[in-house]
Amino acid sequence: MNCRICNGQLSKFLDLGQQPIANRFLLESEFDSEFFYQLEVGICNDCSMIQLVNLIPPDELFGQDYPFFSSTSTFMTNHFQMFADEIKAHLLPPDGFIVEVGCNDGTFLKNFTDFLHMGVDPSTLSNEFMALKEFFNKRTADWIVGMMGTADVVYAANTVCHIPDLNEFFQATRALLSPDGFLIFEDPYWGAIVRKGSFDQIYDEHVYYFTVTAIKNVVEMNGLRLLGVSPLETHGGSLRYYVGKQQKEIPGTGVTQAINRWSASEICTHLAKLSSFSKSVHLTRDKLRTLLSSLSGQIVGYGATSKSTTTLNYCGIGPDTLDYITDTTPDKQGKFSPGMHIPIVHPDKFYKDRPDYALLLAWNHITEILKKETEFRGKFVLYVPGVKIL
Ligand code: TYD
Ligand code: ZN
Repeated sequence: MNCRICNGQLSKFLDLGQQPIANRFLLESEFDSEFFYQLEVGICNDCSMIQLVNLIPPDELFGQDYPFFSSTSTFMTNHFQMFADEIKAHLLPPDGFIVEVGCNDGTFLKNFTDFLHMGVDPSTLSNEFMALKEFFNKRTADWIVGMMGTADVVYAANTVCHIPDLNEFFQATRALLSPDGFLIFEDPYWGAIVRKGSFDQIYDEHVYYFTVTAIKNVVEMNGLRLLGVSPLETHGGSLRYYVGKQQKEIPGTGVTQAINRWSASEICTHLAKLSSFSKSVHLTRDKLRTLLSSLSGQIVGYGATSKSTTTLNYCGIGPDTLDYITDTTPDKQGKFSPGMHIPIVHPDKFYKDRPDYALLLAWNHITEILKKETEFRGKFVLYVPGVKIL
C-alpha cells in the first residue's frame, strides 16, 4: 500500500483487527449484512503522513442511511462560538466572505449569519444558514467562486482528516481563497493520541492522523504555506492549523508561528515511538478486559460514540459484558452498536437501573458528564487516559 498523498511507501505500525463501520448503529435485521474490514495504520516513509492502510469503499460508507448526528455538547458549542468571535474580531473584514467545509448542523456557521457565508456539506440539513449540499472539491470550489467570489476565511473542524484525497482538498481551497485569505482547520493531533493512548480515535472516518511535519509537507506540495499552529483541548487534544497563499502574520489571535520548532521536536512520528505506542495499545486492551471481568454487579456503557466501536471490537467487549450503552441521541436509541451488537438505550433506563459501573465510552466529554451525573451512585470505568476506576 502506498501513501495517498505522495505515493511513498507506508510502514504499518498498528493493527486493530477486523472492524465494522464505526458510526453505523444498526437494527437486528441488519446484523447479517454488516461490513467488516482490517483496521491498520501506517506512516509514509517520504511525507510522514500517518494514515489508514485500508479504507471502506465509498458506496459502503456514504450509503442511503448514512447517519447525521447534530452536536449535543455544550462544550463544543462554546468552543465554536469563542473561535467565531476571534475570527470576527481579527480575520474577517465586515464585508468578508467565510466558507465552512463540513458545516454539519451549523453550530459554528450560525455565528456568521450577518456575514456573507456558505457551508459545504453533503449531509447538512439546516435552512438557518446558506449551505451547499455537496462534497467540497475543485468543482464545488470553482462554483462558489463564480457565484460569490473568493473567500477571506475557509474553516473546517474535524473534517479535513476525513478527506481521502487531501491534494484535491488543498487544491480546491487554493482556488477558493483570496490572496490574503486564511484556511483554518482543526483536527485531533497524533501527538495527543499517543500521549493519552486514545487509540479509539482510530476508525474508518479518520483517514489521516495529523502532525505538524506532515501538514507542512502536504500544504507545500499543493502550493500553500503553513502559517501557524495552535493547540486545543477538543477531542482529547487537537491542533488548529493556519494556512495561506503567502507568508504573513496571523493578526490578533496570539498564534505564534513556531512551525519549525514544532516539527523538529515531533517525536510522535519516530518509528521507535510508533512501535511502543502499538505495544501500549495492546496492553490497554489486556488491562481493560482483565478489569471488566473482575467486576461484579451490572456494567453498562456510557455514550455510543464512533470511537467506542474501535474499543469494543478491538477488546472484544460485547453484550455479555455491557448490558447496554446509554446515549442521548434519539437516532441511536433502539439500535445496536456496530460489530458487538450491544443495545443502545435512552438515558432514562440508566437512571432507573442505577448500574454498578459505567464504562465511559464518551471520555472526551468527561468534564461535562461528571458535572451532569452527580446522582450516579455507581463508578465510572475509564480507559483513556489509562485504565482505571474513577
Ligand atoms: P462524540 O463526542 O461526537 O464522539 P464520536 O466522535 O466518537 O462519535 O459523541 C458523543 C456521544 O456521546 C453522542 O452519541 C452523544 C453521547 N453523549 C451522551 O449520551 N451523554 C452526554 O452527556 C454526552 C456529553 C454525550
Ligand atoms: Zn506520503
